[in-house]
Amino acid sequence: MGLLQKILIPVLGLVLAFCFYSSRENFKPEMLKGKRVIVTGASTGIGEQMAYHLARMGAHVLVTARTEAKLQQVVERCRALGASSARLVSGSMEDMATTRQLVEVAEAELGGLDMLILNHVGKSYFNYFDGDVGHVQKLLDINFLSYVAMTVSALPMLKRSGGSIVVVSSMAGKVGFPFTVPYSATKFALDGFFSSLRQEFSIQSVNVSITLCILGFIDTENAMRAAADVLLMSPAPKEECALEIIKGGTLRQREVYYRYASTKLPLLLRDWAAELLDLLVRQRYRPERLRAA
Ligand SMILES: NC(=O)c1ccc[n+]([C@@H]2O[C@H](COP(=O)([O-])OP(=O)(O)OC[C@H]3O[C@@H](n4cnc5c(N)ncnc54)[C@H](OP(=O)(O)O)[C@@H]3O)[C@@H](O)[C@H]2O)c1
Ligand SMILES: *[C@@H]1O[C@H](CO)[C@@H](O)[C@H](O)[C@H]1NC(C)=O
Repeated sequence: MGLLQKILIPVLGLVLAFCFYSSRENFKPEMLKGKRVIVTGASTGIGEQMAYHLARMGAHVLVTARTEAKLQQVVERCRALGASSARLVSGSMEDMATTRQLVEVAEAELGGLDMLILNHVGKSYFNYFDGDVGHVQKLLDINFLSYVAMTVSALPMLKRSGGSIVVVSSMAGKVGFPFTVPYSATKFALDGFFSSLRQEFSIQSVNVSITLCILGFIDTENAMRAAADVLLMSPAPKEECALEIIKGGTLRQREVYYRYASTKLPLLLRDWAAELLDLLVRQRYRPERLRAA
């Protein structure tokens, strides 16, 4: 027993380390050259940074969000950074017409699609759940149902290319987080939908990968404004976060954890010591600093 442990544990460690590093090391920016990629929620934050990385890697970038003026600037910068091409479709993801238009542009002007990065989120509040059911419904439409609709519309093109779907989620989509109840619900829904769909793709040999991204606190303007005072955590940089998402999607990983130490490691507690994890999560908050609702 003692000997077995002495051998087994280091060997297991080495195997894990090998898997971990081999899957990380073989990413090359050239893998994205000439690839046709849609990025949603690309007018600000992590989505905007993903567009710039993709542009530097020489991809065809199609960005979307509601604010056309901002998207226009993103497109110009993408062209300057070396994108094979850069285009925009502006519109709200509450509106199915936006979904349709995006897919039409990809089909007609890019001749298909290699990667669909679903990243947008509707605006919510950072505070105790206020009982507004209508808001939960609206947020589900934007953060969840439009992800489903985009996937359904883009799937024929993704099947043709053996492409990838990348879904940007959060720690709040894996474990209960206070003060973002409606948001957290929409992120859990994404896990249910896309993890189940991945199983069906596997059974049916559909060669479209699904990568779910579990992010911790990231220093985007909107997240900082909402939570920086209340959260006892230092945020991770959006530029590096954006790159890790693209790497994970390109390598067809099942899930991306960023940052690894503050997401994957705490989640190891989830199934075995859920109450301890709940407590650790609560200790990261200063509720007395919440803004008066
Ligand atoms: N930042 C964090 O700490 C953090 C942590 C965990 C997970 N995440 C996840 O990372 C992703 C990006 O977060 P972020 O902080 O970069 O967000 P962000 O800066 O607030 O960007 C949100 C994007 O979604 C767009 N959007 C909002 N409402 C929309 C609508 N109705 N229709 C279409 N587009 C809409 C916004 O553009 P317009 O306003 O122009 O439409 C914007 O481009 C999200 O999925 C978020 O849940 C972030
Ligand atoms: C699935 O798609 C990937 C990426 O497009 C490709 O490398 C791989 O060979 C495909 N696998 C099969 C079984 O067609």
